[in-house]
Formats: sequence, structure tokens, C-alpha cells
Amino acid sequence: MEKHNHDIIIIGAGLAGLRAAVAAAEVNNKLDIAVVSKHHPLRSHSVCAQGGTGAAMREKDSFDLHAYDTVKGADFLADQDAVEFFVRQAPQEIVLTEHWGCPWSRTAEGKIDQRAFGGHSFPRACFAADMTGFHEMHAIYGKAISYGNVRFYDEWFVTSLMVEGNTAVGLTAIEMKSGEMSAMRAKSIIMATGGHERIYEFTTFSHSTTGDGMAMAYRAGAPLEDMEFVQFHPTGLVPSGVLITEGARGEGGYLLNANGERFMKKYAPEKMELAPRDVVSRAEQTEMLEGRGLEGPYGPYIALDLRHLGEEKINERLPLIRDVAIKLGGVDPTKEAIPIRPAAHYSMGGIKANIKTETPIAGLYAAGECSCISVHGANRLGTNSTADCLVFGAVAGQEATKHALSISLRELSQDKLAAEERRLAEISRKEGTEKPPVIRDELRLIMNEKAWIYRRGDQLQSALKEIRELRKRFKNVRVEDKGKSFNTGFLSVLQLDFMLELAEVTVASALPRTESRGAHSRLDYPKRDDQNWLKHTLAYYAKDGPRLEYAPVTITKWQPVARTY
Ligand code: FUM
Repeated sequence: MEKHNHDIIIIGAGLAGLRAAVAAAEVNNKLDIAVVSKHHPLRSHSVCAQGGTGAAMREKDSFDLHAYDTVKGADFLADQDAVEFFVRQAPQEIVLTEHWGCPWSRTAEGKIDQRAFGGHSFPRACFAADMTGFHEMHAIYGKAISYGNVRFYDEWFVTSLMVEGNTAVGLTAIEMKSGEMSAMRAKSIIMATGGHERIYEFTTFSHSTTGDGMAMAYRAGAPLEDMEFVQFHPTGLVPSGVLITEGARGEGGYLLNANGERFMKKYAPEKMELAPRDVVSRAEQTEMLEGRGLEGPYGPYIALDLRHLGEEKINERLPLIRDVAIKLGGVDPTKEAIPIRPAAHYSMGGIKANIKTETPIAGLYAAGECSCISVHGANRLGTNSTADCLVFGAVAGQEATKHALSISLRELSQDKLAAEERRLAEISRKEGTEKPPVIRDELRLIMNEKAWIYRRGDQLQSALKEIRELRKRFKNVRVEDKGKSFNTGFLSVLQLDFMLELAEVTVASALPRTESRGAHSRLDYPKRDDQNWLKHTLAYYAKDGPRLEYAPVTITKWQPVARTY
């Protein structure tokens, strides 16, 4: 087995991972930093971020306003100390990415332009047309590769985290080209592997975002926090689910039902289409459930109408979604409304971490969507995700550096390495009767049907039972391809294993939360219940399913109030 040693290993090469690499390299040019990713970095899901990165940068806007919008958007479940830190750091990240080459869209005076986004009381989404993530990623990747001390392991699949006595000491990873497993030691490890929304059937997510890092950290003993809170983005393109940016509504787009009504006036009379995503997605779902959706070959849908914006504005501000709507939806938004419906889009939950991105496992840091620092609480505002990746990616890089400079590399347990090698070999040789894609598709349908926007206790209970049955069937899976090099069939089985684990945690965390808060909307408990549920869920790995504990929410300035828009 090959062995690799580094001071810091970053798992995941999206926005948070690359930002962490740059921050660590900036602090100390002698540190040996590795970025391990199952893709080339520029194929990470972050390149799909479209509409903008939130930062309070205009006159009359303020950190307090951005923080309050975020806390209210989060339905008061966000940790307010983390939110206050986050909003203060965000503007400097915009300026840094500008210096590294991100081509931010401009006002007529040449300033970085900002557009409106849902739940924000100011236009604070800095954007690069509707390809914000794509341009941010190119700028930061360019910066990261300019350092001599950052090594990229592209197309390496991490299979497990090695922890000794509650300290992260290394990991195991398969080089996809050779198919061989290697052991890697590090003084600090940063998890930056993104979300897990591929557990749903209708999602804006890339096929690769299977929650690997969350599952590995969970199995290694780190708690997953607030996993019941899954965000549904109001505008997933029908039928693929590909994102149609909220920037389209920020630029003035309307949502229409089958009667041609701008129905948001009933649900959020003030903010209309620019209410937060949980509110808009529920409104769309209600319209469709009550028979006011439009009917199409793929079931009911809602119309996103941009025609009144005119071709020039659409081409300038929303060129990607015009292209996407034409190629994947068969409609030209300058001429027809775009068929959309809510799609699973973001995990507010993730690996529990504090403002310094430290997890309860020493030497393990988490940043970006795989983490839960709890800036987003029960519902994230649009544009706060890419900002979160930049702000907390930088913090993770700095903190991991401090830690790495203070300790020595530790030995990996030979027994544990041998056990992991045996586990992978056993999976790769599996000759059972179950086909992995069948289990995967069944899992996604269960999540779509029973753990979607509106939830009920009996449905969640039944989802949990069915997921556990799928986990049993997974043991009897068959891996067809017995080859070594780029065995994507085998790797997809490892991903399926992670997804099954995370689906179980998501549903098991949702079931006992007998209230409706943010994106967790219970038909059997339609009210928010601050008395009993103003608290975070923590799910710990246990052999027979997650063990749940609860932790208080940090409130600094803003007491919960009724949430209207
Ligand atoms: O709609 C969007 O452009 C998505 C942005 C986000 O999730 O923050």
C-alpha cells in the first residue's frame, strides 16, 4: 500500500476546499498541503452556483441588516454569533476574489454590481452574470495552483477517515486510475465535500454530490447537526431539475400558476417572488397540490415568466439559464415561460463545527455545505452559500495551519488500514442479486415521496423503515465491473453506501421534530414550537441507526418573532 504524508489534507476541491488551500498556503509557504478530490477541481459542484454571493457592501446596507435577514430567513435556528462573524467577513472575500481575477458584473460607474435575492432586504448578491460559481472557481483555482506547496490529487476517491483517540490522523483513498488504495497521514484534515442532495430524485445537484465527507465524518464519530433541514429551491427546471437561478426572480421574473396568477401575493404579499426559498417552495407545492399547477408530460409544474425582461437584459444578466432552458427544457425564455418546480438544493445540516470550523474530532475541520456551523439554521438565504464557502473555507485553512504547526504526524493503525482494505475488496467482489442503480433509484423515490417539502410523522416513519430495508438489501449488492482502472461502478456503490447512511440520518432527525420550522414543514405539526424545539439536533453514529442529542441555539441580539414576508 502506498503511503503519503502531508501537513494538511483538504478533502474536496470546490469553493470551500480551494479557498482553504489558498488560506493555508498564504499563512505559511513551507507547509505541505494536499487537496484530494474525486474530480478535477473545475468539475466540482461549486461551478454550478449561479446567482450570486451575498455581502453587505452598499451604502445604507449594514452587517446588522444582513445578519438579521439571515437569522429571520433561518427561522431563528441559526447560531447568531456565527452569523455576525460571517456577515462581517463576506465583503473582504468579494474583494479578494476580485483581486484573483473573478470578473464580477459591474454597475455603469464600474462598481461591483449587486442584485436582489430572496429574503434579503437589500440587493446584496454580487454576481458574474449567472455563472458566479464558475467564475469564482476559476479565479480561486488559478490562485491555488500558483503556490508551490499545494499538491492536487485529482480523481482520488477518499473512502474513510482515520481517527485515533478522537484525533484525526489520516485517511484512505483510492487512486481512480490504478484502482489502488493508499494511506495518507496529515496533522490537520479539512472536510469540504459539499452536500448530499443526490439522496433525492428531483434535485439541482450534480450526480457527484453524494455526501461522502458527511458520511465519513459521521462514521468516524463526529455528530451531524440539523440534518432534517433540507432546502428545496423553488426553480428546478422540469424535467431535469437543473437550477434556474433565483437571480431570474431577482431581475424581475414572475411565478405564475395555471390561471396566470402571480400566486405569491397570497403567501408573501410584501416580498412576493423574493420571499425566502422555504416560503416560495411551499407556495408552489400548495398551488400544485390544490390543482392550480400547469399540466405537462412530466406532471404539474409552475411557470417562471421572464418575457417582460426583454431579450437584451436576459442575454446580459441571465445568459446561462437562457441556454439551459433552451437545451434542457425546450423553451426559449425570451419567448415562453420556463417550466419549473421545487427541487432539493441544499443541506442546512452537516458536520457539526464551531466558528473556527473545528469539529468535535481534534484536527478535523469542516467548511462549506458539508459543515453545519449553523449560519443557515432551518433555511438558508440564497447567496449565503457561496459566501459561506469563501468565509469559512478561509477560516478552515488558517485554523488547520495553526494546528498543523503545533503537532507532529501520528502513525496510522495497521490493523485499521488492513480492515479498510479488506472492506473495499469485499465490496468490489460482491456477487449478490441486487443492482446498485435500482436501490439508488428506490432510495430517491422514498425521499421524494416521504421526506419532501411537506412531511408527516407516519410518512417519515414509513420512509425510515423502507430506508432500513434498502440498507439490508444493499448487503446483497452486485458489482458488475471487476476491473481496477476507473471502476466507476464500484465507486458508485461506495457512494450509494454513503447516501443510504445519510438518508437514514436525515429522516431519523426529521421524525421527532414535531414542529414546522424553516424548510422542515410538518402537516401534523404546522406551527413553530420555540418552547420545545428551539434547539439543534445532533445525530451520532450508532450501529443500529443514529443516536440523537440536542444542543441550544446561540442567540446574541435577535429573539424569535413571527416570520412574515
Ligand atoms: O438560485 C441560485 O442562483 C442559487 C443560489 C444559492 O443557492 O445561493
